[in-house]
Parts: sequence; C-alpha cells; structure tokens
Amino acid sequence: MKLSILIRRFTGRVLALLGMMMAVILPVASAEGLLLTEGRKATPLNGPWSYIVDPQDVGATNINGAPVPNGFFLDEPIEPATRLKEYSFDEAPTLNVPGSWTAQDETLLFYEGIVWLRRKFEMPEEIEDGKRFHLQFGAVNYHSQVYLNGQLVGENEGGFTPFDFDVTEALVAGENSLVLRVDSRPGADTLPAERFDWWNYGGITREVHLVETPETFIRNFRLQLDKAEPDMATGWVDLDGAPEGTEITVRIDRGRKVTATADANGRAAIRLEAPNERWSPEAPVLCKVEVQAGDDELVEMIGFRTIETRGNQILLNGEPVFLRGISLHEERMDGTDRSATEADARAIFETIKAMNGNYARLAHYPHNRHMARVADEMGILLWEEIPVYWAVDFEDPAVLDKANRMLSRLIARDGNRASVIIWSVANETPVSDARTAFLTGMVEHVRAEDPTRLVSAAAISTRESLEFYAGVVVAALQGRLETLSEDQRTGVVDDPANHLFDIVAYNEYLGWYDAALLAPLLNVDETTLRQVILNLIPQMRFKSANGKPLVISEFGAGAVRGREGGELDLWTEAYQAAVYRAQLQMIENSPGVAGISPWMLKDIRSPRRPMAGVQDYYNRKGVVDETGQPKEAYGVLADYYENGRRE
Ligand code: GCU
Repeated sequence: MKLSILIRRFTGRVLALLGMMMAVILPVASAEGLLLTEGRKATPLNGPWSYIVDPQDVGATNINGAPVPNGFFLDEPIEPATRLKEYSFDEAPTLNVPGSWTAQDETLLFYEGIVWLRRKFEMPEEIEDGKRFHLQFGAVNYHSQVYLNGQLVGENEGGFTPFDFDVTEALVAGENSLVLRVDSRPGADTLPAERFDWWNYGGITREVHLVETPETFIRNFRLQLDKAEPDMATGWVDLDGAPEGTEITVRIDRGRKVTATADANGRAAIRLEAPNERWSPEAPVLCKVEVQAGDDELVEMIGFRTIETRGNQILLNGEPVFLRGISLHEERMDGTDRSATEADARAIFETIKAMNGNYARLAHYPHNRHMARVADEMGILLWEEIPVYWAVDFEDPAVLDKANRMLSRLIARDGNRASVIIWSVANETPVSDARTAFLTGMVEHVRAEDPTRLVSAAAISTRESLEFYAGVVVAALQGRLETLSEDQRTGVVDDPANHLFDIVAYNEYLGWYDAALLAPLLNVDETTLRQVILNLIPQMRFKSANGKPLVISEFGAGAVRGREGGELDLWTEAYQAAVYRAQLQMIENSPGVAGISPWMLKDIRSPRRPMAGVQDYYNRKGVVDETGQPKEAYGVLADYYENGRRE
C-alpha cells in the first residue's frame, strides 16, 4: 500500500480517536456548595506528589494547541525502552502537599504557569456498596483540572476556596492515579487580576482528602443566633441524595433538640432555643451541635454570639468592642510558603495573642479552613475576604459571578464560625460607577447568604481626602497647625461605596507613602517633611462620612529587622516604630475609629518589592520578619494593645 494512503489512514484514525476522546473529556460543572469533612472518614492524600513542569501545556495539547487524547492525565506506566512516551510521573521529582511548587523548588520561585501533579493511592479490593467517595481540595491555585484514573472528574477556578467532586464512579479497586493539571497564571478576568502585592504561590497549597459518606449525607448546615431574636438559634441543613421528607434531628449540647424534614431540594429550615453561653475572645465557649439524618451524623463545635453596630461602635454580644488586630497574609510564621495546617494557624494566633490582640484581618483572600476553627477555640475575631483586589474587570458579569461563587464557598465553609464577624468583599478598588455596581452585586449576594455578619471592604484614599490631607500638611509646614480646629484635622473617609457596608474600612499610610508623594509636589525635602508629618499624625483624627464604625484596616511602614538608625532613617526599625507610635496616638484620640489592623503581621514575599539589599522581593512592613523574629514596632503595638482602648 502506498505510504501516502497509510499516512492518511493513520491520520484519520488519530482524528477519530481524538473525536472519541473529546467525547470523554467533557467540561464538568465545577463543584458548588461545600462538603464538610470535619468528623467524617476523610483519608488525607497529602505528602509527596510527583510533578512535571509544563510551560507549553504539552501534557494536554498538540503542536496546534488542540487537546491530545493520550495526555499526562492518563499517567500511563509504559516501559520507556519499548514504547515511545515523553513523560513519566514515576521518574519525576516530588513535592509535598499541601505546599506550593513556588516555595519547594527554587527553580520555580518566579514560575507562573502549568504544572502537573500526580499521586497514587490504594482503594480496598471491595469498595462497599452504599458509600460515596468525594475528592476534596482545600484550595488549588489558580485553575485546576482533576483527573482520576485518566478521567476528567472536575475542574475549578480560584486559588483560595475549597471544592470537591463525587468520584465514586471513577474509583477502582487497588491502585488509583490522581492527576491535577494546575495553571497558576493570573489573567484579566481572574480574581485577583494580574497585579497584587503578594507572591503567587502555585499548586495544591492546601490539604487534599478522599471523603467517605453514606449514599444520603449531610452536605452542610448552618446554625447561628437569630439576628432579630438572639435567644433562638436558626439556620438550615442541606442533605445530598435524600428523598423529600427525610427526617433531620439537630441537638445542642445533648440538650435542646429539634426535628425537621427535608424539602424536595434536600434542605430543611431549623430553629431551636439557643444555649445561654455567649462566645467572646475573653470566653470562647463552644457548644456541641449534633446533626443527624438517615445513616449520617455530623458533630460540630459552635460558639454563639451576636455581632452588630450601633452608631460608630461595633457591639459584640451587645457590648462595644475595640478591634485590636493585625493584617496578615497566609504565610507560615516560620517561613515563606503558604500556611496550611492547624499547627500553622496556632502559631499565627499565638503571636497575635502575645501582642494582646483580639482580632485578625485575613488578607486578601480566604485563608485555610483551620484559621477560623482555631480562632474559635482561641478567641480571635476575624475579617475574611475575597480577592477582589485593586483593579479587576468590574465590567464583566462573569467576573462578578466568580466573586460571588468564591463568597458562597467561603460562607459555606466558615458560616458557623463564631470568630468570623466580618465578610469583606474587596480591597482598595479604584472608584468608578462600574466598581460600585460590582460591589453592590457582591454585597447583595453576601447578605442573602448570611444576614448575620457585618459586611465591609477596605477603601483607598479618594482625591478629596488626599487634597484635604495635603492642606493639613501645608498648615503644619507653615506652623499653623494649632490654628486648625479638631474638625479641620479630621479626615473623613468618603468612598462612594461606603453606603453598602456596616463597617467603613480605610487603608491609610500616613508617615510612609505620603511624604514621598507630597515632597516633590510641595517642593520640600522628604526627610524634613517626614519629621513634620510624624509630629502631625497624633494631631490628626479620622471618622467615616456616614457615622458608621470606622476600622483603620491598614497603616504601617517598612523596616529591615536589625537595621539601625535614627527615627528619620527609612527602613530602620526605629522609623517603623516611630510611625506606629504616632499612628496609635492618633487612633487613641479618634472616637470614630472602632478598630485597627495595621499592615502587617510578618514580612512576606512580593514581586512588587525588588529593592536589593532592603526588600529582596519581600514586603518589609511586617512587625516580625519573614522568619517570625519581632521588630521594635511589634513591642510598640503590643504595649498599646495592653494599655490602650478597649472600646
Ligand atoms: C495596600 C494593600 C496591601 C499592600 C500594602 C502595601 O494598602 O492593601 O495589599 O501590601 O498597601 O503597600 O504594602
């Protein structure tokens, strides 16, 4: 037969095979809702995973970019000497999950792209009937496709929220091959978009579990104090696979009990008398809540508390509370990979407790599931956030859907956590009508999913507030500060989105960025201006334009731990501490301020901070350095939290 005919036949067969395989690789709906794993038989699939770096997506596409039928996801154990194959997980290096490739392979520190990860695991020879098996991922940054035994079982977008897939039908007895294709590249329509002041840790950054449930199981439930009638606990139970009318029982502390029946969607509303104990940072009392339906039972420890605002105060269990906090990224206290375990969470909150803090702003994305659970136990109030950070595509409805899906996942995961008091929908988004419409859509979604908590977003300075501040600085330069009334020294936070929020939040960097910005405009030497500003800050005040509680969600300054010098020498511990002293005096005298979370707990890696010998790709505004060693400012803050405002 002529070679050309053979080749044509071969090509035809490949295209047919491609067509057939395309039929198998169907886009799979990404997981919605959340499967609770606590209290279930959940086999961890952490530890060493083989990985293959794939910058051109060779593992899934051919030279024309079209999908290939025999990609890396097949994980074919072919003998290289006898059959041509150009990848092998068995021969590949391994990295530890949870953990990013970024922090574990120094050749990948700056790599943003595709990496394939594979783990094998054993299933018993006989898989019990009436059981369902779900793969659950705490988070995978950023896009992921999940293959089990060569079959695409699901895909997910979003680097900081959990997802799970029912894989019962794809499991086999004996050895199973789990392969993920992970793409860490941000884009114009991702959340965050392409610019953010933290390291883009790629990979399976949180825990992976194979979770076993009965055929009919409790997918999730909510139980919180009723906002209007706080002596009652209300919420819902969601069943999966249950016929309408399935009976559900909910019991608190083996005492109060209520039964309800599931509707056609598997949901039942629940309402029962709440326990008398109230959770608080000083008394983090947790109650045992048991939910039972059919063959399934879940047990959760839940703290009951109220959170609300009155005028410019935040009320916890009806009493004013001043949030003594710190902002932090999700990095281990003792290093620079993502924090991911319960021990990591404890180390972080022990540091905050040691500075007499009662609050943490988990910036700028949902942190791992241990954080809210450990905060419940240790008595730390939390701000949790979705990465609508700086400029994202506010015009694209699909991006709003993504933001709301991330909110739903976060609320589904942490909606029973007493420590979580604030859902934040954004950080420093540039003011525009499209932005405010986008935030409006998010706030409507949050309030529909959880009417019990406070909603906020951190604002950046508006033009008006910058002009006001420049005027006060000029008065100080001209020695006229005493002539200004308190009102004329009070910054009013006036972001046009603030009407959406219960709490107004404001990131201000008086004493850091302002002098660099104003010195050339005012034709003044920057160091001279810094001295004037350090003396001015304690005379300033802040409040929100609409009388709501104002949280100073960020202030701070950079310092290299161990760098000595005078109070006006940049990057020294002394200068950072001087900014903290000035800021804390101002805050002590600003009744409109209901709490603070200075920026930030520890030095973190950032691609936006390249200055050699000073930053070395670290954002140095931590009060501890990247290894967790404290700077002078840590002590200044701890002293203030011990002796400063309580409400
Ligand atoms: C901003 C932003 C932070 C950033 C910080 C800084 O306010 O919210 O994410 O890291 O300022 O400049 O260090």
